Amino acid sequence: MSSFYSKSVKDTVELGNKLGSKLSKGKVVAYFGPMGMGKTAFTHGLAEGLGIDEKNVSSPTFALVHEYKGKENKLYHFDMYRISTWDDLYSTGYFDYLDAEEILAVEWSENIENALPEDCIKVIFSPGENENERNIEIIGVDLL
Ligand SMILES: Nc1ncnc2c1ncn2[C@@H]1O[C@H](COP(=O)(O)OP(=O)(O)OP(=O)(O)O)[C@@H](O)[C@H]1O
Ligand SMILES: [Mg+2]
Repeated sequence: MSSFYSKSVKDTVELGNKLGSKLSKGKVVAYFGPMGMGKTAFTHGLAEGLGIDEKNVSSPTFALVHEYKGKENKLYHFDMYRISTWDDLYSTGYFDYLDAEEILAVEWSENIENALPEDCIKVIFSPGENENERNIEIIGVDLL
């Protein structure tokens, strides 16, 4: 497990970028932590690190899943905030993307914990000491 302390949105995006550059086919990045912690911001960085020129990484809350396409990689960004049953989860296509070994970033993974692959990367957000600060713990990958 690695612990990071983000002092700005920029720090969070940079950390996401670093992780993105290490991701390969089939990896699932599972985010945990309350609203407004920077999960979507982190995903901006993740897309950048995957070489995806994506200026429109936005919260998928209403769409449930957004697809970002780069030249070499694709990223599927899920928001499970409203998912509470297996039927809900099936209807998002989550399992189809898993089977296709796509790269997934999943907000509100708390809601689908039993459906996460064992080898997923967990990114856990919690508030820092000040308004613009966050604790970010990353489990399941070596970022050094
Ligand atoms: N250090 C920081 N890292 C990330 N975001 C920060 C930080 N400090 C302040 N913020 C602010 O917190 C908010 C994070 O929003 P973001 O949409 O990324 O959160 P989220 O975790 O995806 O929330 P939700 O669960 O509602 O989808 C933004 O308004 C951003 O400006
Ligand atoms: Mg979000």
